[in-house]
Amino acid sequence: MTAFRKPQIALTSKAAPFAIRSERAVDVAAREALLDASFGEDRHGRTCQRLRDGRAPAAGLALSAVREGKLVGTVRLWHVSAGGRPALVLGPLAVDPACRELGIGAALMHQALAAARARGHEAVILLGDASYYARFGFSAEKTAGLSLPGPFERDRLLAIEFTDGALDGAEGMIVPTGSALPKRRSVRAPAARAA
Ligand SMILES: CC(C)(COP(=O)(O)OP(=O)(O)OC[C@H]1O[C@@H](n2cnc3c(N)ncnc32)[C@H](O)[C@@H]1OP(=O)(O)O)[C@@H](O)C(=O)NCCC(=O)NCCS
Repeated sequence: MTAFRKPQIALTSKAAPFAIRSERAVDVAAREALLDASFGEDRHGRTCQRLRDGRAPAAGLALSAVREGKLVGTVRLWHVSAGGRPALVLGPLAVDPACRELGIGAALMHQALAAARARGHEAVILLGDASYYARFGFSAEKTAGLSLPGPFERDRLLAIEFTDGALDGAEGMIVPTGSALPKRRSVRAPAARAA
């Protein structure tokens, strides 16, 4: 006789669902701690930070991933001029080390890109690993003529167009064009009521 085996369903913490929603003011401290843990406390010296200093993120394009009531992921997008073409720069993207490989990064990316497209933005640029971002449609195909205000690795400057040709012939420096934050909030400031 075959012994009856009760199915084992392990409801580990890995099974907990997550949600992606607009960033809220209460997320800011946890977001900053997550970014420090992911990129190091010297992250403010990175080249892409020059595109964010003293600026608010693009409206509706600051997102948080939340799991069991805790912020576990973040992504924001910022207005720039890419050699004269209006575009967005994406970053930083980070997921809590304890929650990686669960699809949270992909969910943040898909939702951020869909929101950017829905708001009529035509192109998104980022500095990151092509091996990760290619899956979302990013490549270095349209960024050869662009540069950043600081040192960067050319093969990590990637872009995606939502409108064909949005970055055709784009040449020159990528510079920030987003609204300025009020002075007292310009350093490590929260997203100004990001919707
Ligand atoms: C990159 C990051 C946001 C991914 O978040 P995540 O929630 O683990 O991502 P997902 O679960 O959606 O995807 C996991 C997949 O991405 C891959 N991946 C993660 N980081 C990668 C990288 N730098 N290059 C290539 N692939 C990468 C994983 O190997 C995994 O691959 P698989 O789908 O074939 O198994 C997260 O690892 C992180 O916060 N890293 C530190 C900060 C960082 O590097 N940010 C991005 C700047 S380039």
